[in-house]
Amino acid sequence: MTEPALLAPVIAHRGASGTAPENTLAAIALAAKQGARCVELDASISKDGIAFVHHDDTLERCTDGAGYLCAHTAAELDKLKATAGLAEFENEPLPRLDAAIALLDSLNMGLNLEIKPTPGLEEPTARAVCDVVREQWRAELPLVLSSFSKDALAVARDELPGAPRGFIVCAIPENWRHTVQLLQCQNLHCDGALLEKAQAQALLDYGLGVYCFTINTVADAQRLFDMHVHGVFTDYPAQILGLEN
Ligand code: G3P
Ligand code: MG
Repeated sequence: MTEPALLAPVIAHRGASGTAPENTLAAIALAAKQGARCVELDASISKDGIAFVHHDDTLERCTDGAGYLCAHTAAELDKLKATAGLAEFENEPLPRLDAAIALLDSLNMGLNLEIKPTPGLEEPTARAVCDVVREQWRAELPLVLSSFSKDALAVARDELPGAPRGFIVCAIPENWRHTVQLLQCQNLHCDGALLEKAQAQALLDYGLGVYCFTINTVADAQRLFDMHVHGVFTDYPAQILGLEN
């Protein structure tokens, strides 16, 4: 049994990524403007071990760079634009994690920071993320470190035991109890489309925080809130927040 690590009922997934380029400072600022109190961001590392906010292993989809993010130095990544093809955001940089956290701090926003290592870089990625969080995170703001990677979560558990952890899955695996015990996770984050009512009840009865991705319609959010999940990740926070009015 455990206690949920609470974030917010509506979390802006990669920032307000339905409207601004995902995982950018603009997407964080827009999430705040749309009324979100918490964002989800993905973090990986450069060749020289600096944490950046980015979802994919490679740069092509969201930036004007090419190749693996982890094959570039931080100085090289600092020159990239992360506009994701959206003309009105043409000067948006690929943010370092420390810059994203500084912005969240100024906005008094909570964070679900997903450790997103390129395969093989689980340990250094988790260490780099923990170093930035240890240095910068303001304790009174909500924070969860989450990952699909058990290796990354094990490093986070050992490096920053006081920071709540979330194990991310698509469908709920049979052995979820074992994994959340081993990694001392307070939360389980899962694909909302695959979550069944009985599974949600079992997770909640166990005392886990349950957050579901990626929920972009009011009807889908309502189905999950009716199951009493703690929150949803959405690309459209303004739209889903309307549900709560
Ligand atoms: O953290 C929840 C969700 O973001 C996990 O999937 O691929 O959007 O990072 P993905
Ligand atoms: Mg993510």
